[in-house]
Amino acid sequence: MRVLVAERIAREGLELLAARHEVDERLGLDPAGLRAAIPPYHALVVRSQVQVDAAVIAAGTSLRLVARAGVGLDNIDVEAARAAGLTVLNAPDGNTIAAAEHTLALLLAVARRIPAADASVRAGEWQRAPFGGTELRGKTLGVVGLGRIGLAVAERARAFGMRIAGHDPYVSPVVCAERGIEAMDLGSLLERADVVTVHVPLTDETASLLDEAAIRRLKPGAIVLNVARGGVVDEAALAAALHDGRLAGAGIDVYEHEPPIGSPLLAAPNTVLTPHIAASTAEAQVAVGVEIAERVLRALAAQAPDPVPSR
Ligand code: MLT
Repeated sequence: MRVLVAERIAREGLELLAARHEVDERLGLDPAGLRAAIPPYHALVVRSQVQVDAAVIAAGTSLRLVARAGVGLDNIDVEAARAAGLTVLNAPDGNTIAAAEHTLALLLAVARRIPAADASVRAGEWQRAPFGGTELRGKTLGVVGLGRIGLAVAERARAFGMRIAGHDPYVSPVVCAERGIEAMDLGSLLERADVVTVHVPLTDETASLLDEAAIRRLKPGAIVLNVARGGVVDEAALAAALHDGRLAGAGIDVYEHEPPIGSPLLAAPNTVLTPHIAASTAEAQVAVGVEIAERVLRALAAQAPDPVPSR
């Protein structure tokens, strides 16, 4: 069968796919290019940047499945795909550690003002006073969303001596307690946490979860982190709270629009911004590439017509 890989996945994943199927890697197709290219392909593999919308699905007249090399499915029109009878897959495991470590990297960078201090030294300055930081020890980390990544963040933050508050309507307080997490409703978490980090997919339920009203409930001097999905945190409200000095800083890897051209966060103080790279470690990319390739192979094998028996 023919597989179109439209965003970069690890060589290990490509090789697994190519051992069984005809694989074309075509990176950088624009929406029209993707619609033009898709008709002969049985499977389409993307990461998070290529939008697999209803028009792509309609153009994919040979498509049997759409696979996303990453967590969640938010760049795939799942309803249109299912209505067209397609299998929809993702790779939820491989980048857990990368995303958790990036969350902590952003937190430390914000708390210790690392990018600004680095820029200052490179500019030939020798200033220490503007770069006084805050310690994580003894602070409360509020984790919104206790799936794989949220739990991995909590575990690592505990090693820094942080207390962990958690909110997830789908995880019981008993499970939280077993992991040393104090379960609470979102409002209480916002009011108690020194740092709030979101680890939820973008859905109708989570869109603007941290909106202006939620951001107003945050403790003065709190830090906000988002390596999950753009749109979960209201960028304009967050930027306003940073400019007002109500919040101490933010670490952001994902945006309402990517790239975030014109985002108010670009000019917000003490904000560390990265270009959706939380999953971009060598280890995670191999793990995700292999995970998605194995899932695609299994799904295509299950769908393939039985081979004609040889006589
Ligand atoms: C994910 O959802 O796993 C990542 O955002 C995928 C990516 O890095 O493109």
